[in-house]
Amino acid sequence: MDNKVLLRLVNIKKVFGSQVILNNISINIKKNEFLTLLGPSGCGKTTILRILGGFENPDSGFVMLGEENINNVAPYKRNINTVFQRYALFTHLDVYGNIAFALNIKKMNKKIIKEKVTKALIQVNLQGYEKRSISKLSGGQQQRVAVARAIVNEPEVLLLDEPLSSLDLKLRKEMQYELKSLQQELGITFVYVTHDQEEALTMSDTVVVINDGIIQQMGTPESIYNEPINAFVADFIGESNIYDGIMIRDEVLELFGHTFKCVDKGFNENESIDVVIRPEDVRLTKVSNSQKTTNHTSRNNQLIGKVTDCIFKGVHYETCIETFGEEWVIHDTENFVPGDYVSIEVDPFNIHIMKKHRQVDDDES
Ligand SMILES: Nc1ncnc2c1ncn2[C@@H]1O[C@H](COP(=O)(O)OP(=O)(O)OP(=O)(O)O)[C@@H](O)[C@H]1O
Ligand SMILES: [Mg+2]
Repeated sequence: MDNKVLLRLVNIKKVFGSQVILNNISINIKKNEFLTLLGPSGCGKTTILRILGGFENPDSGFVMLGEENINNVAPYKRNINTVFQRYALFTHLDVYGNIAFALNIKKMNKKIIKEKVTKALIQVNLQGYEKRSISKLSGGQQQRVAVARAIVNEPEVLLLDEPLSSLDLKLRKEMQYELKSLQQELGITFVYVTHDQEEALTMSDTVVVINDGIIQQMGTPESIYNEPINAFVADFIGESNIYDGIMIRDEVLELFGHTFKCVDKGFNENESIDVVIRPEDVRLTKVSNSQKTTNHTSRNNQLIGKVTDCIFKGVHYETCIETFGEEWVIHDTENFVPGDYVSIEVDPFNIHIMKKHRQVDDDES
């Protein structure tokens, strides 16, 4: 990835009817960066891509490609190509016809078109498929044609809208790897849309987490995972246990009426906060019948809870536990039985304290 900013969204606002769909979206996208827009269905991901591609105009704000404001530049004149959420391949054309389509429109020399299409087919591992009709391709192969059709134009930026969402898990993983390699090999800037957090974390240089048309957090996959800025991001990025708590003073909080140690500082005394604990950051120990009498007491960052469910997940057991009417989801290597009482123990540095409803804008104000 280069340090040079190639594409910029500046204070983009988009309103449909009376609904604000995008609110003050600003993103700097660097040359050769793999940037992913991540968020739940309806949060505005596709709308951002459509604005980048020129298929939609923002109500305010602007899009810069290099030094140029491209708000009024038509899609086909932007050096940006899109792989749409539904591939939108031409079913009346074969694989070759689909990939060559835009080049034919540009009235490019037939020999050059053939060279470019052949090269694109090799890049997506579909050599020899030129004459195959689209309806006779698997989902994964159609997806490859959609990518080939976009990269054959040698764009500076490729926009990809959930390109792998219709593929099964195994193929999706394979294609994630292939797309990432292709991006590095071609040196193209990728703006990628997904609602799959694992996909975002494994593929991207930068992840932008969006909810309700507002950027919640922007950063490297590691920083987003390890230091989520609010409960929404923590929950969306990894499974999390999130509870209402009170920050009593620096490094001390109250959770379920009990005092816990943590490592966070700088909150107001008695401030309401979100307490976030990852499922893999909890130690469970079965407690004996006599210890059950200490049910719901907290000692050394411990609580006692009752196992309600325990499911084998391949690498760990997912154990559900109830305390104070709240559910915990914990990943552990031990198999517990529903009805077991367990102590739930969390180290202070694994308790993450988050201000309520914090997002990117709060940092800037
Ligand atoms: N042309 C339109 N007219 C009115 N509302 C629209 C239009 N396009 C999108 N919307 C609304 O804008 C919001 C954001 O839509 P968008 O397609 O950007 O979401 P998304 O994050 O891509 O969702 P998904 O993950 O389901 O694809 C939705 O509430 C949608 O209904
Ligand atoms: Mg979408």
